[in-house]
Amino acid sequence: MIKNNVVKEVKSMILDLCADKDFIWKSHIESVVKYSKILAKKLGADEEVCEVSAWLHDIKKVKGEKGSHHIEGSKEAAEILKGYEFSQNRINKVMHCIISHSSDKNYAPKSKEARIVASADALAHFDNFLNLAYVAFYLKKYSVEEGRAWLIKKYDSCWDKLVFVPEAVEIAKPKYKLVKKIIGL
Ligand SMILES: [Fe+2]
Ligand SMILES: [Fe+2]
Repeated sequence: MIKNNVVKEVKSMILDLCADKDFIWKSHIESVVKYSKILAKKLGADEEVCEVSAWLHDIKKVKGEKGSHHIEGSKEAAEILKGYEFSQNRINKVMHCIISHSSDKNYAPKSKEARIVASADALAHFDNFLNLAYVAFYLKKYSVEEGRAWLIKKYDSCWDKLVFVPEAVEIAKPKYKLVKKIIGL
């Protein structure tokens, strides 16, 4: 049977997956969704495509599966969305958003929706400084010096990813300033 409440169900599927994982996943994905919706509204993009892509963009990472999460994730998203009242054209759009959200230069974001999701993914990190600090100092076990260098690099690449959407640059500016202050730049 074809189901019609795609956003609600995809959201609850991902939140269920996040439930027994590190909190960083839930907070990261919720921020990506938040910014995808804000930017989609501002730029007149397909909001549902942006939101569904945002919920699903890191599904492979949340599941802890190895491999290229952007490529495998876009395929899994297509499988999931086939069960819903969601046209093939929009499934293709979601696939493109997911495959192009990472920094893999082989898959640059070409649509407005994909640029939005890639920027929202980067923007989310400006809201969740502690998540990245946790990755650096707890998960990666870096020294203060190593962790600082890693954070600087990470935030530089997040900042670069925002160039696709000037509106995202504006949202990130004051947050980037604070992050720089914390890191000591
Ligand atoms: Fe990702
Ligand atoms: Fe992400």
